[in-house]
Amino acid sequence: MDEKTAGIEIEKLRSEINLHNYRYYVLDSPVVTDAEYDRLMRRLEGLEKRFPNLVTPDSPTRRVGAKPLEEFGALKHTIPMLSLGNALTMEEAIEFDERVKRNLKMPLNENIEYAAEPKMDGLAVELVYENGVFTKGSTRGDGVIGEDVTQNLRTVRSIPLSLGVKAGEKTANKIPKYLEVRGEVFLPLESFKKLNKEREAAGESVFVDSPRNAAAGSLRQLDARITAKRPLDIFCYGIGSVEGAAFKTHLETLEYIKSLGLKVNPFARLVKGIDGVLKYHDDMEKQREGLDYELDGVVIKVNSLELQARLGILTRSPRWALAYKFAPKQETTIVRNIIVGVGRTGALTPVAMLEPVKISGVTIERATLHNQDEVDRKDVRAGDSVVVQRAGDVIPEIACVIKERRPHGVRPFKMPDKCPVCGAAVEKIGAIHFCTGGLSCPAQLKETIAHFASKRAMDIDGLGASHVEQFVDAGLVKDVAGLYYLKKDDILKLERWAEKSADNLLAAIEKSKHPSLDRLVFALGIHGVGEHMAKLLAKEFGSIEAIINASEDELLATHEIGPETAQSILDFFKEKHNLAVIEKLKKTGVEFKKAERAKKGIFAGMTFLFTGSLNSFSRDEAKELVEAEGGVAVESVSKKLSCVVAGKEPGSKYEKAKALGLKIIDEEEFKKMVGR
Ligand code: IVH
Repeated sequence: MDEKTAGIEIEKLRSEINLHNYRYYVLDSPVVTDAEYDRLMRRLEGLEKRFPNLVTPDSPTRRVGAKPLEEFGALKHTIPMLSLGNALTMEEAIEFDERVKRNLKMPLNENIEYAAEPKMDGLAVELVYENGVFTKGSTRGDGVIGEDVTQNLRTVRSIPLSLGVKAGEKTANKIPKYLEVRGEVFLPLESFKKLNKEREAAGESVFVDSPRNAAAGSLRQLDARITAKRPLDIFCYGIGSVEGAAFKTHLETLEYIKSLGLKVNPFARLVKGIDGVLKYHDDMEKQREGLDYELDGVVIKVNSLELQARLGILTRSPRWALAYKFAPKQETTIVRNIIVGVGRTGALTPVAMLEPVKISGVTIERATLHNQDEVDRKDVRAGDSVVVQRAGDVIPEIACVIKERRPHGVRPFKMPDKCPVCGAAVEKIGAIHFCTGGLSCPAQLKETIAHFASKRAMDIDGLGASHVEQFVDAGLVKDVAGLYYLKKDDILKLERWAEKSADNLLAAIEKSKHPSLDRLVFALGIHGVGEHMAKLLAKEFGSIEAIINASEDELLATHEIGPETAQSILDFFKEKHNLAVIEKLKKTGVEFKKAERAKKGIFAGMTFLFTGSLNSFSRDEAKELVEAEGGVAVESVSKKLSCVVAGKEPGSKYEKAKALGLKIIDEEEFKKMVGR
C-alpha cells in the first residue's frame, strides 16, 4: 500500500471511529459492537505504525499520553475563569433575583429569563480547540492561571479530540477558528464505587471521601496512563473566548457547543423568573438521587448575553449568575458509642451510635463502620466528633473524624474476642470477625429467621424483625421451622399481641407453605446463595433432594458456581442440624416443589461464546440454537467456556480465547454440531 492510499483509508477510519466515540460517550447510544469497534481501532493503529508520517495529534489512537510529566506546566486563561456567588436558602435566591432586577433598573414584578443548569460537583476545566482540533486543556487553578492537564484531558472519552463529529453529519456546524470551552470533569458514581472496590481488593488506600476528590486526583495525575484508566466524564457549561461564532443567549451557546459534538448536561433549561428558578431547584433536588453523578445544587444564569454584559462582574464572580445549593448531605455530630452487631452469617459489624443529627430531612442515629480495618483506617473512637454523610441511596457513613476536637483519654476501638450476644469465641477470616456460635447464637438465629420469612424468600406477610426477636427471646422459635409450630395461645402471652393480629400472622405463615423451589433454597440462607444462585440450583437439579445430594463435581459443572459457593453448599447440607430443619419443615406441611429442570440436549452443561460475524444465522439465532440444546451462550471470555465459535473477522475476544487455549471452532463446524 502506498502512502496516498493509506492516507485515504486512515481518514475514513478516523471519521468512522470518531463517530462511534461520539455515539458511545456523548450520546450513550452505540451502533456497533465492541468487537467491530476494536477491529477499526486495530486497523487504524496498524496503518499509523506503518506510516508514522500520517499520525496526527487528534487521531483517536492518541488518547493515552506518553511519558509521565515531572510537573504540570502553567496555562493562562485568556478570560479569567470566575467563581459563583452562593445561595443556600430560598430567601437568598429571591434576593439574587431582586438584585439582578435592581441592577438592570427593571420593575420588580417583571420576570427575567434564566438559563438553569445542574451544578456538577467535580473539577472545572478549560478546553482549547484551534481549527477544530483539541490543543490545550487546563484546570481552573486560581481562575487566572491553571495547570496544563492537556495529556490527561485527552484520555477523557467524552472530550472530542476534533470538533464537528455528529451523528449522521460530517460537519454539523462551521468549525470555529478558535474556541475555549469550559466544563466540569467528574467521575460517575458507579465508577467511583467500582474504583474504590478495586483499590480495596488490591490493598491500596481507598478514596475515602468524595467522587469529586477522586475526579480531581485522577485528572491531576502526572502519569496520564493512570488517568486513562479512570472513566472520567465531562459536562460543558460555557465558553471563554471564541473566534468565528457569535451568540445572543447562554442557551444558544450551549446548543452551539453541543452541535460541535461536546457533551452538555441534558437538564439545562430556560426558566422564567424567580418562580421558575425555585421550581427548577426543587425538581433537580428530587432528580438528584437517581443520577449517576453528584450534584451540589443548580446554577442560574441570566440568559441574555447583553444583560449579562450590562450586569458585569463583582471582583471574582459575575453579577448575572448564582450557585443555588442543595441542602448539605454532610453534618457534624458526636459518636456516643461503638457497638458490635452480629449478622446472619455471624459477621461482627461495628456500628457508630451517634448524637442524632438531621441530614437533608432524615435523622441519622447510627452509621456502619463495616469492620475493624475500616475503624482503624478512619480512626473512629467513642467520644469523637465526626462528619457524617448521606450520599444518594448510600447508607449513612462517617466521612472523617475531626481530630482537633478529640477529648482526652478516648481509646481506640477493638473488636471483642467473645461474641457480644452469645459469648462464643470470635474468629477472624480475612478482614471480618465472625461469631463461632452458629445458630445457637440468638443474633444469628434471629437474622436467619428474618431472612427466611422475608418478602423474596418465604414471604410471610407481617412478620417483622421485632416479632422474630420476641419469639426467639421467649424461646418459642428455635429454628426457621419453628415458625410453623407457633401456637396462638403462646403468641397471645407476649406483649402487644391480640386475637386479630395473631390470627393474621398464623394465616400468613400457613399461606407461605407452598413456595417455588428456588425461593425455598434462597430462604435457607446458604452462604453465597442469593436469589440468582438459588434459581440456578433449582433449574439445574430440579428438587431439594438432588441439591442435597449434589457432588462437588456436579456443583462445579454448573455454569456460574465457583469453588467457594460449591463448598458452602456442601458444608450447609453436611450439617445435621440443617437436614433436621428441612425434615421438620416437610413434616409441618411445607411443600418442597419440583422445579422444571434445564432441558438436556447435546449442549447440556456447555457454554458457548460467539465472536465475529456469522454467514448462516444472526447472533441471536445462533444463541437460540445453543439454548434449545440445553447450552448457555455468554458474552464474555472466561476459562469456563466450552467452545468459542469464531465467525468472520473475530474481535479481541478471539485473541483472548486463543491466549487462554480455549476450544475454537468455525461456523461450519458449529453447523455440523447442530445438524444444519
Ligand atoms: S458556570 C461565571 N455552570 O462551580 C460562571 N459552573 O462555584 C462560572 N460548576 O468553578 C461557572 N457546574 O467548577 C458553571 N453548570 C455549571 C457548573 C459550574 C459546576 C462549578 C465550576 C465553577 C464552580 C463555581
